[in-house]
Amino acid sequence: MLEFQNICVSFPSERQDRIFGKIRQQVLFDVSFNVRKGSCLGILGESGSGKSTLGRVLCGLLKPDRGQVLLDGKPVYGSRAGKRSLQNKLSVVFQDYTTSANPRFRVKDIIGEGLKVRERREGEKPDREKETAALLRMVGLPPEFSDRFPHELSGGQLQRMCIARAVACRPQIILFDEAVSSLDAHTQVQVMDLLRELKEKLDLTYVFITHNLTSVTYLCDDVLFLYQGKVTEHLSVENIGRTADPYAGKLLESIVMFEEAK
Ligand SMILES: Nc1ncnc2c1ncn2[C@@H]1O[C@H](COP(=O)(O)OP(=O)(O)OP(=O)(O)O)[C@@H](O)[C@H]1O
Ligand SMILES: [Mg+2]
Repeated sequence: MLEFQNICVSFPSERQDRIFGKIRQQVLFDVSFNVRKGSCLGILGESGSGKSTLGRVLCGLLKPDRGQVLLDGKPVYGSRAGKRSLQNKLSVVFQDYTTSANPRFRVKDIIGEGLKVRERREGEKPDREKETAALLRMVGLPPEFSDRFPHELSGGQLQRMCIARAVACRPQIILFDEAVSSLDAHTQVQVMDLLRELKEKLDLTYVFITHNLTSVTYLCDDVLFLYQGKVTEHLSVENIGRTADPYAGKLLESIVMFEEAK
């Protein structure tokens, strides 16, 4: 359903070259992979390996230097129709739930942003109040929360609200960038259970960026290892321990040790 083809991304770096001027620092090297419909792909990699950059390419925010993203066989970059189709089909949930919601908006307005996207696409006006209450219930929040402001919610509740906003536009794919990483362990499990349930109920496809191995084994079907901007391994979660790649192995080891120490 989603295809990454030879994506290369570079940014201008601060370093200057006397002859060539600004040197560009390449962050993604020839990244290719597929995401099957209805599956969850985990993207694992150490800090700075290019995960969020890859996420930005995926959600249409960053045009790659080279390569293409295909959604249902249609190119996302280089055509208006492709971008629009992506915006209609994909939602994003970020790590920083405290800044990804406008503090001056009430919960109902924040979820309303997602509903608006759907209204524009489908041309019908759903009953906002009823829809918001249903969405809140779906993510395990009481409907009365719709009049609250973001600062009146806990971290876990806020992240649930962000998930409600993401599903409000009825996407087919949701991209999560470290979406559960800043929650405590217990809340992480609760939110991941919610994500699993929603995936079944709404027939969703997930791309799940994380540095947390437990959440990958809990939620994902496949996992992609990113090391210094290159894909070093792409395998199913059942085979995660059998990786032949030295970097993936090292990363696994370090994560396992860290989790045991916790
Ligand atoms: N807009 C930008 N301009 C210049 N360099 C950038 C830009 N965005 C990212 N980078 C660089 O690209 C590299 C990869 O960054 P990225 O945010 O994708 O890493 P990450 O894997 O998400 O890391 P983390 O796990 O810490 O979130 C980093 O070296 C970063 O400094
Ligand atoms: Mg990141």
